[in-house]
Amino acid sequence: MTISFENRVAIVTGAGGGLGRAYALELARRGAKVVVNDLGAARDGTGHSDAAAAVVAEIEAAGGTAMANGASVIELDQVEAMVAAAVEAWGRVDILINNAGILRDKSFAKMDMADFRAVVDVHLIGSANCTKAVWETMRAQNYGRILMTASSTGLYGNFGQANYGAAKLAVAGLAKTLSIEGAKHGIRVNTIAPTATTRMTQDIFPPEMLARFSPENVAPAALYLVSEQAPSNVIIGAGAGVVQAAYVTLTPGYALPEGHRTVEEVAANWDRIVSRESEIVPQSGTEQAMLILKTSLGQ
Ligand code: NAI
Repeated sequence: MTISFENRVAIVTGAGGGLGRAYALELARRGAKVVVNDLGAARDGTGHSDAAAAVVAEIEAAGGTAMANGASVIELDQVEAMVAAAVEAWGRVDILINNAGILRDKSFAKMDMADFRAVVDVHLIGSANCTKAVWETMRAQNYGRILMTASSTGLYGNFGQANYGAAKLAVAGLAKTLSIEGAKHGIRVNTIAPTATTRMTQDIFPPEMLARFSPENVAPAALYLVSEQAPSNVIIGAGAGVVQAAYVTLTPGYALPEGHRTVEEVAANWDRIVSRESEIVPQSGTEQAMLILKTSLGQ
């Protein structure tokens, strides 16, 4: 079965290069009309270029339909104007891929709080801005597909990326609540943690790995997550053609008996508390309270 994006309108942020460019090209090749957003910044978020226009030219040369947009995702008014331009030209917005990102790596000891804030601004506030700007349109259409871009650093940590890791797990959290709020309006929200050789990761991949980890090898998973048959509320890892699922799980835990609710009892029962036997994957926050109740009742 072919998965088509015919008659779909997609916005991909940070699509002037790297992963966003690969997503935009493949969406357009499969029939979507694509807003290629990028302010054309350097890796640290400074400066401007016409990277988005170059990707639009590539799409058009291949027979596709696209428009360039130079909004910075941290500026809500610019993002709202981008969405308005898409709706005016093409009547709707079906897909938003929040992909724009920057890096300001340093160990936390040496990190300036301005660099912490700049990274949180682009990844978290930028993703929230773009999502807010399409949300009403998607609700009114009763259809929307939104993809957040997390990272292995957000999910699992990485030395020198405290700002980036905080922002990246934050967008996964944003996706979880929005998938709940969007469900009755046909809006599905997912998260991808990609691994690819781009300028963002050029320092860490050995040259022989460049082809294996090309951005094109992440695009199939990303596009599935914004397709009509997309799931909702999943966190997917993707790289080198491998597609994985990451879960936020919860153990049943151990109920400290009345009269034994002390620090020492927590220490004494640590193995039972962290045991993964019968752990669950909650689909909403209330499931934690329900599991607590179950464990406290000894069920
Ligand atoms: P990239 O640096 O090629 O792409 C990021 C794009 O975002 C750039 O074109 C940049 O100009 C644009 N951008 C930056 N600030 C912007 C702003 N304020 N408004 C609009 N556009 C802006 O890097 P790559 O690797 O393609 O990154 C894409 C996404 O994937 C990022 O969110 C990144 O954090 C994430 N990611 C990438 C991984 C990898 O292995 N390459 C690993 C994990 C996450």
